[in-house]
Amino acid sequence: MAEVKFFYGDNVPLEMHKVRIVQKLDLVPVERRLEAINEAGNNTFLLKNSDIFLDMLTDSGVNAMSDRQLAAMMEADDSYAGSATFTKLENKIKEIFGMEYFLPAHQGRACENIISQAYVKPGDIIPMNYHFTTSKAHITLNGGLVEEIIIDEGLNTTSDYPFKGNMDIAKLRALINKHGAEKIAYVRLETGTNLIGGQPHSLENMQEIRKVCDEFGILLVLDASLLADNLYFIKTREEKCKDMSIREITRAIADLSDIIYFSARKLGCARGGGICTRNKDIYMKLRELITLYEGFLTYGGMSVREIEAITVGLEETMDENMINQGPQFIAYMCNKLNESGVPVITPPGGLGCHLNAMEFVDHIPQSQYPAGALASALYIVSGVRGMERGTISEQREDDGNEHFANMELLRLAMPRRVFTLSQVNYAIDRIRWLYDNRKLIGGITFVEEPKVLRFFFGKLAPVSDWQTKLVEKFKADFGDSL
Ligand code: F0G
Repeated sequence: MAEVKFFYGDNVPLEMHKVRIVQKLDLVPVERRLEAINEAGNNTFLLKNSDIFLDMLTDSGVNAMSDRQLAAMMEADDSYAGSATFTKLENKIKEIFGMEYFLPAHQGRACENIISQAYVKPGDIIPMNYHFTTSKAHITLNGGLVEEIIIDEGLNTTSDYPFKGNMDIAKLRALINKHGAEKIAYVRLETGTNLIGGQPHSLENMQEIRKVCDEFGILLVLDASLLADNLYFIKTREEKCKDMSIREITRAIADLSDIIYFSARKLGCARGGGICTRNKDIYMKLRELITLYEGFLTYGGMSVREIEAITVGLEETMDENMINQGPQFIAYMCNKLNESGVPVITPPGGLGCHLNAMEFVDHIPQSQYPAGALASALYIVSGVRGMERGTISEQREDDGNEHFANMELLRLAMPRRVFTLSQVNYAIDRIRWLYDNRKLIGGITFVEEPKVLRFFFGKLAPVSDWQTKLVEKFKADFGDSL
């Protein structure tokens, strides 16, 4: 998506790739969609792909791969130990991040397991800009306490602040002073902050965090799963970085980190993950846990084909024309919805377009899960699968009380290079219709509630017959249209 201007106005994001392999999609009738969402317990994680038209659940492991990635997969060198394929990835990590040591893991949360087991002791505090579900779960499992110190603007749903993922430096200092540096296992910075709408942090903010970590001798751990989007935002929104190349920005970020870990289901557009460091002591501490939980050090639970694809994917991430596709499509979708009055998180971030359910369905109390209800309603009227990122994605307090999320979001992820603009326009159309008919949407309630990460496989039911009424209105307005 080079900076191409359109002569007659109405600039649209222009793809700098062509589609060579396609996969057939079906849009099942609205009656089937109503049935399907109830078979799935109103949990979009439990829908079957055959019932889904546009899968906007996540960008994890479902980004389109390039011809070069697929070609590289054919060259994979399979062996339990000493695979040449692994050495290629290790060298690419050295080249891009300047980090000597690389530990492979089967995905992002596996890295979180290893890092938490190695560094988190009961009673420890882990300050972070914002939590991610699995990162918090691993920290709490090891007895640690997550402290979120995102800047106040980060939780402001409508804003034009360019770096809502920044950490509040004064709060970081206050936390360290309150608990003492020895109680802080590490500081975790999540790039492209997932749960607040894929919002970036600035390079300047990271430099300030580094200064505080140096002052108190605390490790800085970067969750780089959403690095690609964040790199694009630093390049385009941070004045001081506008003349830096993507490669230079990446290196600057890496130089500020003690440990970088990532989900290669996102970063590198393949499937896998890994932990990087330039510190031998850190490497030695983590190494044995990798062999215990993930596999030998030259595959770590990944298929060598995926390792080849990650190596190429990381190189392709250094291309601005590759990493700008997601953010530009997301901005297009957010801006169109915003213009129509639909409440979305602004400024547009990475990862996906986020509908603000707290406003969209402001008549649904948080105890009836507005974001989950909106996810269910949107699926019924469109076949678009989004992901609840609100109270259902939280864990209950130890005493069993509900922990209401700061934000109730319906995330509509934009897997990279997967959807066309006409598909995005279809989603926009159905969301606008749903917004006009929002009062028909009602709440949902748990009928089966797992204790850990309940959003993955919990089941819910509508609190009234609102879904039937929504389908009746859909049929009245759309007639025979799917
Ligand atoms: N950290 C961040 C910031 C993530 O977004 C994810 C995954 C992980 C860690 C865990 O990585 O899935 O490879 O184990 N996010 C996915 C999502 C699941 O849909 O947002 P993983």
